[in-house]
Amino acid sequence: MENVKPVQKQIEDWGYLVSDENGIVMGVSPGFCQQFSVKQSELADVPIDHVIQGIPLKNYKQSFGRKPVIFGLVFGYACLIRVTQELNHNLYHVILRVDEVDRSEIISFANALDKPKVKKEARNSSRYSFEEITGESQAIAQIKELAARIATSNSTVLITGESGTGKELFAQAIHELSSRKSHPFVAVNCAAIPDELFESEVFGYEAGAFSGAKKEGKPGKIEQAQNGTLFLDEISELTYQAQGKLLRVLQEREVERLGGTGSKLVDIRIVAATNRDLKTLVQEGKFRQDLYYRLYVFELKIPSLRQRKEDILPLTYHFIDEFNEKLNQNVKYIEPELQEWILNHEWPGNIRELKAYIEREMNMVDGPTLAVHSLYMPLILNRADEQSESNESTLLSLVEEVRKAEVSAIARALRECDGNRTLAAQKLDIHLASLYRKIAKYNLK
Ligand SMILES: Nc1ncnc2c1ncn2[C@@H]1O[C@H](COP(=O)(O)OP(=O)(O)O)[C@@H](O)[C@H]1O
Ligand SMILES: [Mg+2]
Repeated sequence: MENVKPVQKQIEDWGYLVSDENGIVMGVSPGFCQQFSVKQSELADVPIDHVIQGIPLKNYKQSFGRKPVIFGLVFGYACLIRVTQELNHNLYHVILRVDEVDRSEIISFANALDKPKVKKEARNSSRYSFEEITGESQAIAQIKELAARIATSNSTVLITGESGTGKELFAQAIHELSSRKSHPFVAVNCAAIPDELFESEVFGYEAGAFSGAKKEGKPGKIEQAQNGTLFLDEISELTYQAQGKLLRVLQEREVERLGGTGSKLVDIRIVAATNRDLKTLVQEGKFRQDLYYRLYVFELKIPSLRQRKEDILPLTYHFIDEFNEKLNQNVKYIEPELQEWILNHEWPGNIRELKAYIEREMNMVDGPTLAVHSLYMPLILNRADEQSESNESTLLSLVEEVRKAEVSAIARALRECDGNRTLAAQKLDIHLASLYRKIAKYNLK
């Protein structure tokens, strides 16, 4: 551990890069070229993500003001990079190059830099429930803001967004922020209750309403939510008949139990959610237009995770923390390769999928590093193999032959080292940085 230097002492100027608004390198400082042994001309017009990896540079756009220091790889070297955005260009200032320092230290350092300076207690205490909604993107900040504003009213809210984007979480947060928070939050999944049970479950029933009914009758979910919030999840799945009954509740604020003779006044706030486009369903005659208008008082649109890539890493760390505790693990950092994969994955199942993925990895991990699971390595390696496949009979240009030979040697080294780039570089007897450079150059990922 002798040569491990404390992180803070290493901060110095490692030079900088400038890219245009499309992420193409426009300029580079001589210091940068010297530190990373590259020529200025080699970097001209290169996409920035060929130089700096591990962060969604192009998608960061507006959020730089909030997170100026990011962790990334510059030619394979772990670095902290301060990013500033000017009118039509970005400046990437490498403030720390961390060849010898233990990576976990860097990550905790980077995380500390990232943490918002505002302490929880300093915030309005009623906003506490939103603390659980992790995300740094502007989109999510705006939605939180809007949700906080409408939470205090009694208006109906419709939350839309793909499955797994956090609609239920927002519904709960809205309840927690409202004056109804000491009363029940009752969730009904309209897709999960069989049609024939729906009415009795939601509207309740009187004694003897049907055979098999409880003797004394039963209040439905609507009554259970009295003075609180009724969350109607997947509302598009309601039958036409149930839609009509629900409309009455919304209009008259009263509920009639099955088999009942009178109705009861209810004071509930309705929050509904859907991942389908209700407007289209109305046009197709599957959803009542009158109910649609009753629900569309306020719409909260939750963007997919693909549309807010800046949230991926904060969420990843959030779930790592969560599963560290639950599974008694001690994961501190993520391998840059895995970080890159996580950032580039499409996440069709959104946050639910990301959470499930992290949970799976956290169950298998051994030690403090979450690394690329062998499952994903074949994807990377096959690509290299494909590229090295070529027509044996014709001699190509020297450049092409060299490229072919390099690609196949790199692919083989990576394969033999199970994708571990440090070992592969040793095997090939080249510097790790040049291995990264070649992987980027030949687009081996
Ligand atoms: N912004 C977020 N921060 C932390 N966890 C989240 C966030 N959004 C969603 N989750 C988690 O992801 C999972 C799916 O969220 P959920 O609200 O059920 O999505 P939806 O109702 O849109 O399908 C839940 O486990 C939830 O706790
Ligand atoms: Mg849901």
